[in-house]
Amino acid sequence: MNVVRPSLAVEIAGIRMKNPVMPASGTFGYGEEYAPYFDLGRLGAIVTKGLSLNPKAGNPTPRIAETTSGMLNAIGLQNVGIEAFLADKVAYYQNFDVPVIANFFGNTLEEYGEVARRLSDIPEISAVELNISCPNVKQGGIVFGTDPRAAAQVVALVRKSLNKPLIVKLTPNVTDITVIARAAEEAGADAISCINTLTGMAIDVRTRRPKIANRTGGLSGPAIRPVAVRMVHQVVQAVKIPVIGIGGITCARDALEFLIVGARAVQVGTANFIDPGVMPDIIDGLEAFCLEEGIADINDLIGSLQL
Ligand SMILES: Cc1cc2nc3c(=O)[nH]c(=O)nc-3n(C[C@H](O)[C@H](O)[C@H](O)COP(=O)(O)O)c2cc1C
Repeated sequence: MNVVRPSLAVEIAGIRMKNPVMPASGTFGYGEEYAPYFDLGRLGAIVTKGLSLNPKAGNPTPRIAETTSGMLNAIGLQNVGIEAFLADKVAYYQNFDVPVIANFFGNTLEEYGEVARRLSDIPEISAVELNISCPNVKQGGIVFGTDPRAAAQVVALVRKSLNKPLIVKLTPNVTDITVIARAAEEAGADAISCINTLTGMAIDVRTRRPKIANRTGGLSGPAIRPVAVRMVHQVVQAVKIPVIGIGGITCARDALEFLIVGARAVQVGTANFIDPGVMPDIIDGLEAFCLEEGIADINDLIGSLQL
């Protein structure tokens, strides 16, 4: 007897994906780094390392420390800059039948607008993911993602400068993430992704110094998953636009938690460093789960939380 394969296809803000699994920005380079490990064509989407107008060297080292069930990083948004990305990286994506989501940020409002304009012209890019978790240097270190008015301002500006679906990525380092999510939705976001890393600190007890040169860093990995699931659950209730769940996903079961609370797709970050083949395993695991549970279409599982 032929077993009918469940459909894993999902749609986010007009982007059709063959399954809901994609990498989290910054943990997958520009994609090509992972091509030796599996067929990138299996992914729901490719998400690039965060891009800025000019190349960025990032923070001094050490900038990564392992923690219990996670890691702390302060890479400092190191990237090749938009020009090098367009010249050297973008053509590679034509080899795959996979939507590409360009993650980006700016140091100032103007810079956010300028990068958005540049990305608008690139046919290989299906959508952009706006990272509003980095310091707004011009306004004295206010973080766009922690103030609803600043968040709305940057989202509205990018929306005006961009002709592609706009995903806004939220920081968890706020009192109430739903306030920022709603501000982003009202300002024109087509989807929300959450969460980014949680601010943390780790100390070397012999030297009495912070383990990373930046002193504080972003905590990611399984340690943050329950926080992320809670926040995705809250954001799904608060907005009408689709939500992408991120935080500590290492296997299909972890991804299912996010889908069940209502995430339309998921991103896998830190787990890629431990096992570069983890994403195809998660896709296989989702299919196996749907088969076991008699679910013909994964969309029937999304938001199926019982309270
Ligand atoms: C080394 C590293 C670099 C990252 N760089 C970016 C980035 O450039 N842009 C961004 O939006 N998020 C960045 N993130 C955050 C991840 O995309 C993700 O939101 C976070 O790690 C939580 O997911 P995880 O627990 O599965 O890793 C980075 C995370 C790590 C660990």
